[in-house]
Amino acid sequence: MSAALSIEHLSKRFGVGRPAVNGVSFDVPAGEIVVLLGPSGCGKTTTLRCVAGLEHPTGGRISIGSRVVSEPERGVLVGPRERDIGMVFQSYAVWPHMTVRQNVAYPLKHRRNGGGGDINVKVKETLDLVGLGDYADRPVVSLSGGQMQRVALARSLVYRPQLLLLDEPLSNLDAKLRIRLRDELRRILKQTGMTGLYVTHDQAEAVVLGDRIGVMRDGDLLQMAPPGEIYNRPADAFVANFTGASNVLLGKVLERSGDTATVDLGAAGRIEAWTPQPLAAGDRARVALRAENVRLGERAGRNVFSGRVLERRYQGTQTVYDLDVGGHRLEALELGTAARHDANAEIALTLPPEMCWAYRDEGLSFD
Ligand SMILES: Nc1ncnc2c1ncn2[C@@H]1O[C@H](COP(=O)(O)OP(=O)(O)O)[C@@H](O)[C@H]1O
Ligand SMILES: [Mg+2]
Repeated sequence: MSAALSIEHLSKRFGVGRPAVNGVSFDVPAGEIVVLLGPSGCGKTTTLRCVAGLEHPTGGRISIGSRVVSEPERGVLVGPRERDIGMVFQSYAVWPHMTVRQNVAYPLKHRRNGGGGDINVKVKETLDLVGLGDYADRPVVSLSGGQMQRVALARSLVYRPQLLLLDEPLSNLDAKLRIRLRDELRRILKQTGMTGLYVTHDQAEAVVLGDRIGVMRDGDLLQMAPPGEIYNRPADAFVANFTGASNVLLGKVLERSGDTATVDLGAAGRIEAWTPQPLAAGDRARVALRAENVRLGERAGRNVFSGRVLERRYQGTQTVYDLDVGGHRLEALELGTAARHDANAEIALTLPPEMCWAYRDEGLSFD
C-alpha cells in the first residue's frame, strides 16, 4: 500500500527575498520514516505543506509513488484530496462534538477512497493500535491532550493512506507524555508499515523516530542520513552544532591527509580531526566536538591535552566542567553521581580524533 515519496529540487518562494524552501531534494523509500529537523523558520512546514498540496511550490517536482503530483514547470498540480495522504498536526485536529469512535470512523464514511471492508472492524483495529481501545465511546473532549493526539493519529491511519505527514505532532504535550508518545509513535508507524515524513525542531524526537534525518537550515537541506551518521559524521558545522556538538576550537589547518585534518590550536597544541571537507593547509578551521566525548583524566592515544578546571557544575547523575585548554574554552560532561575533579585542578584530557570534526571556519555563529 505504502508508496515512496520523491522530492526533486523543490523550491517555494513567498514574495521577494530568500525562498522558504531552496532547491531541496530527497526520497522517502516505501515503509521508511524520514524526519526533517531544523530550527524554527528553516522551511520544514513549508516542505510538508508542498507535499500535502496545501502550498503551491514555485519549482521542482514532487512524486508520490509513480505519480507526479506537483511540477510547476510543466503546469502539474494535483489537489490535496487527490494525493491519498494523512496528516497529523501540532494542534489536535478532532471533531469536538463526536465520540472517539465517531471521529475515527469519519474518514471511512466521508473519504472517496475510505470505503471497502467493515468500518467497525477497521476502527477497532486502529483504536487498539493507538492504545485507545477502551475509550471508543467517550466524548473526545473528555480526553487528555495526549489521548486526543492519539485520536488524530488514528483518524489519519484508519484509511491507510499511501503517505503520512506529521508536523510537530508532540509539541503541545508536556515533557513526560511527549517522550512516551514519541516512543510509541515509532512502534505504531513501524507496525503499520507506513511511509512517513515527520518534521520537528526536537533532535531527540528526530533520532528516535527517523530511519533517516534531514537537517535543514534557511531553506537548505544540509545533510540527509541515518541518525547514527548525523550524530557521528556531521557533514556540516551547523549540523554538528544543532545536534549537540557545542564545543568549537578555532585554529588553522596544518595539513590534511584523506579525511583527517591536523589543526594548529596555538598554545593548546595541535589536534587531529575527521573532516568531510576539502580543507587545505592555511585554511581557518573550526573543530567541533561533544562535551560527552571529552575524556577527562585520560592520557592515551592521540589528541592528549592539558587543561585547567574553571568551573564545575554538579547535576546529580552527571557533572559539567568548564575547562581552559591553552586559551580555548571547552565544556566536558562526565556521567556518574560523583564529581571527580575539583575547580582549579590541572587535568589531562583526551579528545578522540574520530569524535573531533573539522570544518572550514566561515566566521559563523549559530547561537
Ligand atoms: N504563508 C506565508 N507567507 C509568507 N512567508 C511564509 C509563509 N509561510 C511560511 N513563511 C516563511 O517561510 C519560512 C519557513 O517557514 P516554515 O516552513 O513555517 O518553517 P518551520 O516549519 O521550519 O518553522 C519562514 O521564514 C516563514 O516566515
Ligand atoms: Mg513549522
